[in-house]
Amino acid sequence: MSEPTNKASNEPVISLSNITKHYPMADETFYALQNVNLTINANEYVAITGPSGSGKSTLMNILGCLDPASSGEYRLDDQNVASHSEAYLATLRNQAVGFIFQSFNLLPRASVLTNVMQPLVYRLMSGSSRKKMALEALDRVGLSDKVNSLPNQLSGGQRQRVAIARALVTNPAIILGDEPTGNLDSKTTLEIMALFDQLHAQGHTIILVTHEQEIADHCHRVVRLVDGQIESDRLNQRAKPSQETPPQDQTKQVMHG
Ligand SMILES: Nc1ncnc2c1ncn2[C@@H]1O[C@H](COP(=O)(O)OP(=O)(O)O)[C@@H](O)[C@H]1O
Ligand SMILES: [Mg+2]
Repeated sequence: MSEPTNKASNEPVISLSNITKHYPMADETFYALQNVNLTINANEYVAITGPSGSGKSTLMNILGCLDPASSGEYRLDDQNVASHSEAYLATLRNQAVGFIFQSFNLLPRASVLTNVMQPLVYRLMSGSSRKKMALEALDRVGLSDKVNSLPNQLSGGQRQRVAIARALVTNPAIILGDEPTGNLDSKTTLEIMALFDQLHAQGHTIILVTHEQEIADHCHRVVRLVDGQIESDRLNQRAKPSQETPPQDQTKQVMHG
């Protein structure tokens, strides 16, 4: 499994050339993304912003290999995504990328531990190894005391931390979040941002979709989409580190070998 820090910080982990995504409509073709060129290096901390409908989720779904581009080239970890089979992509996605959604997407009737073990189901490893990795991921998000809870017994912030642990359990180099704090109050948002700050400091590449200025201010680079095109791509010199102190468990540096 790849370590988040195994690439030099000037090496691209994501490279999009002329990416287009279009949908056939009744009498014309609708372009959700047009000629998007974007390179993201290892350990960058990027916000994707833009108005509703500007193509942010479409872009994230392509980055996460959840959806193919209509044209253009997407290289993930130096591999041309379009040239691989669905099965290979599923493996690449599982190992390289952790995806976090606004609505958490947890299995409601499964425990926190089972939810976090889910991405490991298809791995050839013992149940006890899976459990150990899930417990480590839960430790990284400060939820070691909630492993047996059900999602509906947790607060929104805790649910999102479970979802982050589920994204982390395979130790992916890249963490993608599509409006990961969109359903959270402002205090909980700061807590979750502190966690992303920490994952960034531990070597992960972080890419977050947001329309909240406060979140974009945390990130070191802000890419703005308008009508499916990159309108601006700026470094954020004044990126604010989080003021929030992460829960006690989160201060540990857990790296898997
Ligand atoms: N499956 C689809 N079929 C047709 N149009 C779609 C589909 N998915 C998204 N779109 C359109 O693409 C545009 C971009 O959508 P999206 O990426 O979800 O925007 P954002 O996340 O920035 O709000 C929107 O106008 C949306 O209606
Ligand atoms: Mg969206």
